Amino acid sequence: MVRIAPSILAADAALIEQAVEQAAAAGADLIHVDIMDGHFVPNLSFGPELVAAVRKRTALPLDVHLMVRKPSLFIPLFSEAGADWISIHLEASSHLHRDISLIKGFGKKAGLVLNPATPLADMEDILPELDYVLLMSVNPGFGGQSFIPATHDRIRRLKEWIRSLKLDVLVEVDGGVNLDNAAALAKDGVDILVAGCSIFGTPDPVATIKRMREAANP
Ligand code: DX5
Ligand code: ZN
Repeated sequence: MVRIAPSILAADAALIEQAVEQAAAAGADLIHVDIMDGHFVPNLSFGPELVAAVRKRTALPLDVHLMVRKPSLFIPLFSEAGADWISIHLEASSHLHRDISLIKGFGKKAGLVLNPATPLADMEDILPELDYVLLMSVNPGFGGQSFIPATHDRIRRLKEWIRSLKLDVLVEVDGGVNLDNAAALAKDGVDILVAGCSIFGTPDPVATIKRMREAANP
C-alpha cells in the first residue's frame, strides 16, 4: 500500500488547521512538515511551535523534513514538539551516524534525505540504520516545482538495493508529485508520496488526496 503524505507547506499559512483536517478526512497516512532554516535552503518555513500546534490537532504521524544546515541542533527541538518521523539531509550532516542515532534515541523513525544530484552510493554505510530514505525529486526549498524525471530510475535502483540487502527501509519521494505521476511512482516501488501544491492548490484537497491514493494503489 503506497502511503500519502500531504505537505502543509502548500496550504494557506493562516489555515494550517484546516489543511490538517482535510488530510485526516481524506485518510492521509502522514502529515509532511517542511522545516527550512534559510541556510541549507534559501527559504524559511515553520518552527517547533507549529509542529507542537499541529500535534495537538491530529493523531496522524508527523513526518518532519529538516532542511537545515545543523540537524543536531534541531532534532531535539522537533522531537519534543511532537514529530514522529524525522529526516535529515545527507548533504547537511557532518556526523551522519551520530545524528541518525540521536533521532532514534528520541524514539522517532529516522530518515535520510538525498538531493536530486547526490549519488545513492553515498549512503552505503548508513542505509542499514535507516527507517526510510527520502529522495528529493526537486531541489529543496520551495513547493510547486517540476518533478525531475531521473527520480524514477533512482527510486527503482534504491528499491532494488534495499531488496537485495533484505532491509526494511521505506522509500519516500518529495517534490512535484501529482495525479499524473503518482501511478508511475507507485510502479517504481515507492512507499510514500509527499505532495503539496498538487493537493492544496486544488479546490477540493480531500477529493484530490483520495484520487492520489487510488492512482497509487490500483
Ligand atoms: C520542497 C519540500 C516539499 C514541498 C513539496 O523543498 O521538501 O515537501 O512541500 O511541494 P510540491 O509537492 O508542491 O512540490
Ligand atoms: Zn519536504
